[in-house]
Amino acid sequence: MDSEQQLNTWQPDIYDRNARFVSDLGSPVLAMLQPSPGERILDLGCGDGVLTEKIAASGAIVVGVDASEAMVAAARQRGIDARLANGHSMRFEREFDAVFSNAALHWMREPDAVLAAVSRALKPGGRFVAELGGHGCVAAIIVALEAVLARRGINGAAHIPWYFPTAADYRARLERAGFTVDYIELIPRPTPLPTGLEGWLDTFAENLLKPLQPADRKRAVAEAVELLRPVLCDERERWTADYIRLRFSARLAS
Ligand code: BEZ
Repeated sequence: MDSEQQLNTWQPDIYDRNARFVSDLGSPVLAMLQPSPGERILDLGCGDGVLTEKIAASGAIVVGVDASEAMVAAARQRGIDARLANGHSMRFEREFDAVFSNAALHWMREPDAVLAAVSRALKPGGRFVAELGGHGCVAAIIVALEAVLARRGINGAAHIPWYFPTAADYRARLERAGFTVDYIELIPRPTPLPTGLEGWLDTFAENLLKPLQPADRKRAVAEAVELLRPVLCDERERWTADYIRLRFSARLAS
């Protein structure tokens, strides 16, 4: 994962409690990767390494990279070869048969730099298989947070840390970076939140909450929760986030 302020707040134990669904729901993109024994695979934005471990179980030789020191340390504890690196500037050269990424690319705000680094990291014919937040992802949550910030004279749009592209936009970027796109699709995926909206905001929305006065943060979060309750919470207090995924598989020429 990338993105400045958020990087310093990733804590593996809190992430595990509030956001384990991120790796749990990674099976479809993992299935698309089809790793083979002996292949060298880079997991870009490996987080705490739960999915990296699953790739390694196929017999592939896996390297994980993440921009969060705490997440790299957690992945290493699982025995993963995890390295601290930023997706925009990682310096691998023609080393990997495949690059895999789940739920990380939307934190990287300069997609063309990331695609150049991925293309550089792959051997000729190498594949890039990934899933990220797609256009419209968490739109209701963003609108509510922007409204709460606007009440305080803060321009929330300036603090959004995510890049949620359309399929057409990302396809064009992949092609410009030298990839042939075999599959790309936006997939609505309403996502149950195990610790409710507050747990999600605490884990993922630091960049948007940071501009608030610390003494006002609790009240502002409570306002966002009440704005969103009619659309994201059911009568049994179960919260579901309005996730939309962009899933794709692409490859370089041999
Ligand atoms: C995710 O991990 O998939 C995610 C994080 C922040 C916003 C939207 C999605």
